[in-house]
Amino acid sequence: MLKNIQETAEWLRQHTSMRPLTAIVLGTGLGRLAQEIEIVDAFPYQDIPHFPVSTVEGHQGRLIFGRLGGKDVMALQGRFHFYEGYDMKQVTFPVRVMYEMGIKNLFVSNAAGGMNPDFEIGDLMLITDHINFMPEHPLHGPNFPTGPRFPDMHEAYDHHFLQMAREIAAEKGIRTVEGVYLATQGPTFETPSEYRMYHRWGADAVGMSTVPEVIVARHCGIRVFGISIITDLGVEGRIVEVSHEEVQKAADAVQPLMADIFREMVSRI
Ligand code: HPA
Repeated sequence: MLKNIQETAEWLRQHTSMRPLTAIVLGTGLGRLAQEIEIVDAFPYQDIPHFPVSTVEGHQGRLIFGRLGGKDVMALQGRFHFYEGYDMKQVTFPVRVMYEMGIKNLFVSNAAGGMNPDFEIGDLMLITDHINFMPEHPLHGPNFPTGPRFPDMHEAYDHHFLQMAREIAAEKGIRTVEGVYLATQGPTFETPSEYRMYHRWGADAVGMSTVPEVIVARHCGIRVFGISIITDLGVEGRIVEVSHEEVQKAADAVQPLMADIFREMVSRI
């Protein structure tokens, strides 16, 4: 595993001269931010040694190196989901490679169902914390030398980044909400009872990704910032049928705002 990670990082170092400090993971329907990146090098996942290949609709599956907000960035356009059949080592493989490449900051994005009754479809939720409800842990197995056996998670989402995002959103007049993201394995969306249960557990939004990557990033000492786009509501009395297409559509409508926040943050760090 470690050998594969190092080989992939080495391959990338040989194929790009860029050495960014910030990486961005673009979630479902959120690939458009990639268009705002001045691309220097882009590698389809299938061309990168040891990289898994993304299968879900709406994910183009490439690793981009370029400039955003005047800074060098690396962006994963399309992530690997547990529900696609990948194990957690594969899901988090790109984050391990990022660490090997010298990444210090990770920005994550996803589409999520909102359970907080104050949320609206199209809201941008700054992720303040998470609940890991995935069936397999990404750090299961022998400990990686990047961090301790029992990693601390008291500030999984960096408070300085959160404050910076609040300030930027206020300056730009972008409505944001804040909350706890709960990760399920998917691929089913929730029943009304599941939404109610997750909300009672303390979650404001639910999705099928992100948490494994964040855990591995924290284990590597990478600082994390995350945004969920609320694409549907799991709020009692307001639950309607959800489809992947609707999730994509709702995500599409607000991606420019999320891109604005990400770009500005990148430029300030
Ligand atoms: N549940 C789980 N994952 C999701 C949802 C949801 O309601 N919306 C977008 N991704």
